[in-house]
Amino acid sequence: MAIETDLFQKARSHERLEQLKAAREHDLLPYFREVEGEPGPVVEMEGRERITLGSNNYLGLTTHPSVKQAARDALEAYGTGLTGSRFMNGTTPLHLELEREIADWMGTEEALVFTTGYQANVGCIATLLEVGDTVICDSGDHASILDAVMMSRARIRPCGHNRVDKLEKMLKRAADDGGGVLVVVDGVFSMEGDLSPLPEVVALCREHGARLMVDEAHAVGVLGAAGTGACEAYGVAGRVDLRMGTFSKSLASCGGFIAGPAEVIDFLRVQARAFMFTASAVPAAVGAALGALRIIRSEEGRELIARVLENARYLQRGLAELGFLVASPTEMPDGSDLLTPIVPVLIGDDWKAVTFWKELYDQGVYANVALYPAVQPGSALLRTSVMATHERHHLDRALDAFERARDRLPDDPAAVSGSH
Ligand SMILES: Cc1ncc(COP(=O)(O)O)c(C=O)c1O
Repeated sequence: MAIETDLFQKARSHERLEQLKAAREHDLLPYFREVEGEPGPVVEMEGRERITLGSNNYLGLTTHPSVKQAARDALEAYGTGLTGSRFMNGTTPLHLELEREIADWMGTEEALVFTTGYQANVGCIATLLEVGDTVICDSGDHASILDAVMMSRARIRPCGHNRVDKLEKMLKRAADDGGGVLVVVDGVFSMEGDLSPLPEVVALCREHGARLMVDEAHAVGVLGAAGTGACEAYGVAGRVDLRMGTFSKSLASCGGFIAGPAEVIDFLRVQARAFMFTASAVPAAVGAALGALRIIRSEEGRELIARVLENARYLQRGLAELGFLVASPTEMPDGSDLLTPIVPVLIGDDWKAVTFWKELYDQGVYANVALYPAVQPGSALLRTSVMATHERHHLDRALDAFERARDRLPDDPAAVSGSH
């Protein structure tokens, strides 16, 4: 008997198909737009210069002369690709140098470099956890964490976004599950731009005997005096078991790392499938990450960090004054408040977010659109983010574009703005 179901049928009838078709027909698709130049604060896209408010290049280091030189030097020394896994022929002195520098920077015994940040999360979480263990995740955690958790086959105990009360409840329940327990949170949440309440999370994990892993993808190179992330900003870095970071944001390259105790890193080195069964990062990517890390750890890096945070405040204040619903700064335990470079503008409805995005794009501003499943249904947002290399006049032009785009929206512009 022949198989009746065509596996490809889902490609012809998936839930997003109609939306995708309509968006393409009206040139409203906010995704896959071509970037035709270097990713600076202003970038050439589809034949026109646009102000970049849709990049994770927080410090602007992807175009820094010494980062580019470090990539070139690595390319010359080791060639275009390593054609093998870290485990086999894919480890160069550069990889090891980068791992030593990351461990020194993060203040951990060791660090392990993966080919992408996604693989760092998958490699770490899916290797440490197994059937019988329990993992507790925040509902805002990055997709790579959720994929890793599903791969691990550990018991999942989900927890509402930044709900410390729920975390406590889940930890109590997990005590009866019988296995080891890992809590995983983003230090800075990638879409909302807010921070995990790490002091409370750390205290609860310690009280209940759970291990804690913090994904610092959006926080490395941005938060803390040394730029190591949210754990440092909260003063809890020494009490967090594992920290993950990526090179694809402030570190101006591609790749990721796990920093933590030597025994765990060594375990991952010989057990993590996402580390062992994939090709090692290309030398130019490793060289660029190392070049960027050295800048972040210098006086120049400290100035760039200060500048990106000032720019975030400027944009957030400007958008709030225009009446947009924007994220508020996070209050820190020392009484200061902190705003990350991610400044999301809540729109709500998917189509409104897309049409508003297009108006902005036509006004010469590129932002990211986050729709479900990147955010909760009905919570579509324009995810804007700033760079250290934005000048005030770039941000002023972007704010003007936001105002004009809102005024040009055909229906109910008030629905994309409001009190805050
Ligand atoms: C919070 C978070 N974790 C992990 C990743 C994955 O990192 P990469 O893009 O380097 O694979 C991302 C990137 O999108 C992220 O935002």
